Amino acid sequence: MNAEVFYFTGTGNTLSVARDIAERIDGRLVPIVSVLGKEKVQTTSEIIGFVFPLYHFEAPEILEKALTKIENLENKYIFAVATYGLIPLDAIQKFKASVERNGGNLAAGFTVNMPHNGLGFKITFGVEREQLYRDWREKLPTIVNTIQKRKQGVYEKSNILKDFVFSGLMFRALPSLIRVLGVVAVGGWDSISFKAEDGCNGCGVCAQVCPVNNIILEEGKPVWLDHCTLCFACLQWCPKEAIQAGNLTTGKERYHHPSVTLQDILEQKKPDS
Ligand SMILES: Cc1cc2nc3c(=O)[nH]c(=O)nc-3n(C[C@H](O)[C@H](O)[C@H](O)COP(=O)(O)O)c2cc1C
Ligand code: SF4
Ligand code: SF4
Repeated sequence: MNAEVFYFTGTGNTLSVARDIAERIDGRLVPIVSVLGKEKVQTTSEIIGFVFPLYHFEAPEILEKALTKIENLENKYIFAVATYGLIPLDAIQKFKASVERNGGNLAAGFTVNMPHNGLGFKITFGVEREQLYRDWREKLPTIVNTIQKRKQGVYEKSNILKDFVFSGLMFRALPSLIRVLGVVAVGGWDSISFKAEDGCNGCGVCAQVCPVNNIILEEGKPVWLDHCTLCFACLQWCPKEAIQAGNLTTGKERYHHPSVTLQDILEQKKPDS
């Protein structure tokens, strides 16, 4: 199949999903980060996929940047898959609008529930994590079939009452949500900014892994600049678990998808050939 699958990932959930799809449609994986530095990207594939995590119910900002660089979006079969940790809301509809702004037409869009890699949401950790991976394996054939048959107009959307309130998810997530909102209410979003603790050994993995080069090392310690895309890769991949987001992540288990390695994340930054 003549397909390219553009992906962005911080902690590997999205890469694992993108890989599974690319493998089955015989597509080529292209890291979105690798095209950001280019003036324009030419694609000759008939099928283009965008696979990304949700941040605050929408695609990361860099997806919009990437879309502006990809030429010839018109006349392509375009699909999107958004991984999410809690609830996606209307993220696919929002992404559909982004694709249209850039001259394309989103034919199909799916959401995939994965473990939450963000601020202390423990509810999808532990036993439930394995269930999420199993659910993905069950859902995969439907997505592949949609793409292979070039189906149009298939857009997944979540219902906040059905998926969040009545499923009981809201009540399980409430302690974490209250904690995050409480910290933000008292100290603003700046109070959850990243910092490295004493355990940091200056290895530089955080700077290497940052997809947007938002971290520099000064005197052997990381310093965060001002264009973070919130992927949480630095915090989750630090081998010493020395990075904290305010005081929200102290003592929390670190997470990355089990099938994805640090090397895979570093590959994301290699220039696309
Ligand atoms: C800053 C941030 C914001 C997030 N916002 C949402 C959100 O609005 N809704 C949601 O369901 N999950 C949200 N998540 C969870 C991620 O979308 C989810 O864990 C995703 O699978 C991570 O993908 P990755 O492992 O490829 O980086 C957020 C995660 C982060 C770090
Ligand atoms: S990855 Fe962790 S230990 Fe290494 S420099 Fe960054 S904060 Fe320090
Ligand atoms: S600073 Fe950390 S969270 Fe922000 S983009 Fe870089 S790796 Fe991701």
